[in-house]
Amino acid sequence: MPLFITFEGGEGCGKSFQSKTLFRKLERLAIPSILIHEPGGTLLGERVRKLLKQASDISISPLTELLLFNASRSQLVGEVIQASLKKGQAVICDRFADSTIAYQHYGRGLDLQLVHEVNRIASQGCRPDVTFLLDAPPEIGLSRKRPDAQDRFEQEDLDFHRKVRAGFLKMAAQEPDRWVVIDSTLSRSKIAGVVWKRVERLFSN
Ligand code: TMP
Repeated sequence: MPLFITFEGGEGCGKSFQSKTLFRKLERLAIPSILIHEPGGTLLGERVRKLLKQASDISISPLTELLLFNASRSQLVGEVIQASLKKGQAVICDRFADSTIAYQHYGRGLDLQLVHEVNRIASQGCRPDVTFLLDAPPEIGLSRKRPDAQDRFEQEDLDFHRKVRAGFLKMAAQEPDRWVVIDSTLSRSKIAGVVWKRVERLFSN
């Protein structure tokens, strides 16, 4: 069944673990599905990911950052997501366009309409059917991560990560039919249970 499922949240929220867990569950049930992540998921996307994640002497302005995330997205949508949905596969994506609103608008302060417009062009009509937000105070998420001085986003201060979190929560409140907000301090198995309950409902619709 062509379902587009996304996981969102701040650093160290556990979304990669939960997206993998859901993917394995679908595999066990022989439900055709793919697991991808953003930025990345294509050869070009993985190169862009390195540029965006690794702190280096290359300076990246907020506008360039917005365009790079969306360059990776446009390639992923055109090369992978549309084809998979067409084949009837479920697509599980670790981050998608909502991350750009949270990080580049709420975090970096770029104009909201601009971010929406660039996201719209790159997403080419792909919109998640359901989005799981794994939410926790950023102090908790960041403390779960191995300190990585090489990560451009982990280097940002707490205030940046608080704005990102508030942005995610605001988006979830504005579109409650699509978003499922889960306390990411719950146990992994409890979170997986909440995710599965919602996905199972979508499959039975
Ligand atoms: P992650 O895959 O480990 O979550 O790393 C991706 C990083 O990129 C994370 O810090 C969030 C950030 N990001 C944005 O700032 N904007 C975006 O559009 C996306 C997809 C990710």
